[in-house]
Amino acid sequence: MVLSGKRILVTGGAGFIGSNLVDHLVGENEVIVVDSLRTGKRENVNPSAEFHKLPIAKINEIEGRDIDVVFHLAAMASTQESFLKPDECIEINGAGTAKMLEFSRVNDIERFVFTSTAALYGNNPELPKRETMSIEILSPYAASKRAGEQLVDIYARSYGMKCYSLRLFNVFGPRQNPHNPYSGVISIFLDRAKRGETLYINGDGSHTRDFVFVNDAVRAFEHAAQGESEFGSAINISTGVETRIDQLARMIIEKVGSSSSIEFRDPKIGDVYRSYADNSKARRVLGWEPKFSFEQGLDTYLEWLTSHGQSYSERN
Ligand SMILES: NC(=O)c1ccc[n+]([C@@H]2O[C@H](COP(=O)([O-])OP(=O)(O)OC[C@H]3O[C@@H](n4cnc5c(N)ncnc54)[C@H](O)[C@@H]3O)[C@@H](O)[C@H]2O)c1
Repeated sequence: MVLSGKRILVTGGAGFIGSNLVDHLVGENEVIVVDSLRTGKRENVNPSAEFHKLPIAKINEIEGRDIDVVFHLAAMASTQESFLKPDECIEINGAGTAKMLEFSRVNDIERFVFTSTAALYGNNPELPKRETMSIEILSPYAASKRAGEQLVDIYARSYGMKCYSLRLFNVFGPRQNPHNPYSGVISIFLDRAKRGETLYINGDGSHTRDFVFVNDAVRAFEHAAQGESEFGSAINISTGVETRIDQLARMIIEKVGSSSSIEFRDPKIGDVYRSYADNSKARRVLGWEPKFSFEQGLDTYLEWLTSHGQSYSERN
C-alpha cells in the first residue's frame, strides 16, 4: 500500500504526527506542508518537503491545482485546551476543516483524509469502541472533531470525494513534545521518569487507553488515501489492546530504570474513563493493521529519545 508519485498536501506537518507522516512520504512523493506553527516546530519539517508557514484559514494562498491528496491534521489537538479556548477550537478544527474540504473540492482534489479522534466515544461504557456505536461528546474538542467528520461525510455524499475520517486512538512516539502540558501521557511520563521526577496520575490509575505507535498511525493515512469503499465514513485506528495508566507508569519507571514515584491526583474534567477499540473496519476497508506491539513502540521511542531526546526537549 505504499503511496508513490503523488503530490500531497499535509496540514499540521510540523506537528508530532504530521511530521512523522511527512518523513514517511517524502521519499516517494512530492510533499507540501502547511502549518501555522501554533504548536508545531519548523525544525520538525523534513527538508525535502516544501514548507508554508500559514494558518489553514488562508489555504487559498496555496496553488492547489495539481495536488492529488490532502492529509488534514492541523488542529488544536487538546481536549483540555479546548475548554480554555472553545471558540478558537471550533474555528481551527471545525471551520478550518470546512475550509480545507472546500479548497479540495474547488481544486478537484479527490482524496482527503481527516484526522478525527477516539474522544468522540466519550464515556459510552460499551467496549471495545466500534464505529457503529453511539458517540458521546464531552468537550469542545470532541464537538469540533465531530463537526469535521460530518463535513467529510457531506463532501463524500454531495461531491463524490474519496474521503475518510480516521479516529485515531492515543498515538505516541518520536517528536511528541513532553513539555506541552497537553501532550500525550507517554511522552510526559518518559520525560519525568528520566529526570527521576514524580509521575502524576489524574484519577486512581484504573482508567485505560489504546496506545498506537506513530509509525502505525502514519501508515493508516497512506492506506486511507487508497481505500476504495465506504467513502465519507469514520474508521478507528487502534490496536485493540487496553492499557491501564498505572500499569503504564510502572512499566515506564522500570524500562527507564528510574527512581520516580507515582502520585494520584483528581481526574480532569472531560476525561474519558476506559478506551480501547475494535479495528476490524480499518483492516477490512483500508487493509491496514498495526505492526508495532505497545512494548515494541515504547522501546523504539526510548531508543529515539536516547539519540535525539535531550536536544529535542531542550529546544521545546
Ligand atoms: N496525538 C494523538 O494521540 C491524537 C489522537 C487523536 C487525534 N489526533 C489528531 O491528530 C492531529 C495531529 O495531532 P498531534 O498530536 O500531532 O498534535 P500537534 O499539536 O503536534 O499537531 C497539530 C499541528 O497543527 C498545527 N496547527 C494548529 N492550528 C493550525 C492552523 N490554524 N493552521 C495551520 N496549522 C495549524 C500546529 O502548529 C501543529 O503543528 C490533530 O488533528 C489531532 O486532533 C491526535
